[in-house]
Amino acid sequence: MKLNKNSKFSKPLNIDFYPAFTMAKNIAVIGSQFGDEGKGKIIDFLAESADVVARFNGGNNAGHTIKVNNETTILHLMPSGILHNGTINIIGNGVVVDPNILAKEIENLRSKGVKVTPDNLVLSENAHVILEKHIMEDKEKNKHLGTTARGIGPAYTDKAARTGLRVIDYVSQGKSSLNPFVRNSVVLINDLIDKNKKVLFEGAQGTLLDIDHGTYPYVTSSNATAGGICTGLGIGPKKIDKVLGIAKAYITRVGNGPLPTELGTEQEIKEEKGYNELKSDLSEEGFERLMRKITKEANEGSEYKQGRLLRMNGVEYGSTTGRPRRTGWFDALIGKYSVIVNGFDAIALTKLDVLSGFEKIKICVGYKYNDKIIKNFTTNVEILKNCKPIYEELPGWRENITKIRNFKELPKNAQKYVERIEELLNVPVAVVSVGPERSQTIVLRKEFLFDSKSSK
Ligand code: GDP
Ligand code: IMO
Ligand code: MG
Repeated sequence: MKLNKNSKFSKPLNIDFYPAFTMAKNIAVIGSQFGDEGKGKIIDFLAESADVVARFNGGNNAGHTIKVNNETTILHLMPSGILHNGTINIIGNGVVVDPNILAKEIENLRSKGVKVTPDNLVLSENAHVILEKHIMEDKEKNKHLGTTARGIGPAYTDKAARTGLRVIDYVSQGKSSLNPFVRNSVVLINDLIDKNKKVLFEGAQGTLLDIDHGTYPYVTSSNATAGGICTGLGIGPKKIDKVLGIAKAYITRVGNGPLPTELGTEQEIKEEKGYNELKSDLSEEGFERLMRKITKEANEGSEYKQGRLLRMNGVEYGSTTGRPRRTGWFDALIGKYSVIVNGFDAIALTKLDVLSGFEKIKICVGYKYNDKIIKNFTTNVEILKNCKPIYEELPGWRENITKIRNFKELPKNAQKYVERIEELLNVPVAVVSVGPERSQTIVLRKEFLFDSKSSK
């Protein structure tokens, strides 16, 4: 693959020396892989200076984790701006809403002291409702796909078949506590954008789970890509300013379907004890000893142990279902594909800290299928399942990087890893995340973010 030495972003710029630029008016935050890239964390980080956070797709199949001052909040339907005072959170018409789950989520947040009122939460009247029958059907019919069993697919099926129930129809039956939140969200969001309010469009799932652009049929039932924003919220495409792709520094997938760079087999994962189980079974010392053993075996070349190390270091267990996530090396073909499908202006690279301890880190730069070399991603599931990844190997680093807040202070090899991803994807990295906490965030390029002065 061609190096892009002269690109304006081939060296991350020290933001202190960056010339004047216009900050983002609004930002779309989109998963670039198979979901769980850390969208919740990045949205919460950006929401500090946002006025509005709006969900446009999916439902409570999403699990977006936010960690502030050691307290973890997992949001399923609620937009990830809810923890910031003064932010308006919109659940758009493209979302499918389980009213019981939303009511519970509101209750949980209130019990933690978070304000949730019709002033800071708006539910689109045109969103479709997930009913008990949808959940039953999902459980019965979609096991082979490994869905979250939340009724997502069947609810979207009814929507497309024109037999669905919209929020407006549901609340008019008079039996919902959600009534006060229901509004015409299209008029509202367009008005807010026109008033120059800073809006975050919060994607759920990821590009490879998109119904049109993902690894069909192993996908979700909505458009998780940037294209879904316009239909899922009722805004024109010109109103989207910057599109930020969220990419993990490696890759994970939960549920079925191909994952070309997967490390370890389904059987091996099935047989392994989970992170929480080990934490409670073992003493602190025993746990550390086990982690050292896994690290050693990973560095001696065991692919399964490399995958397990990513799973353990990254605590890769589903935030919605608790299932262990399948893990693998960063796939640059998927990255490049996501860049074109969504038109990413920049990337937020998350979980870089999880790679600490690997002596060598691999990046997939091609697939070998039969005797052919494939350089561009394909959604042909047969090829994806049977191809062999072609890797480029980069030197790793040992240091714990979770306390670093400045790009130049990262170990040289970590800097090089980030720069190599920029080159391969041909898109700048604007943010590097080095831990789950809101504060564990390194900003490299401010121009893709909001002006830090909030208008709130
Ligand atoms: P989302 O669905 O894209 O919002 O991601 P999830 O919340 O499902 O999964 C991401 C997980 O990684 C959560 O447990 C986050 O707290 C955690 N996380 C996010 N960013 C980082 C990071 O930079 N480092 C580490 N170690 N964990 C992170
Ligand atoms: P967030 O927003 C990861 C996966 C399921 C399954 C497939 C279809 O947290 O990134 P569905 O229940 O949507 O019909 O399942 O999609 N899936 C996700 N994987 N993160 C998610 O959301 C997901 N939402 C759905 O595991 O493979
Ligand atoms: Mg998630």
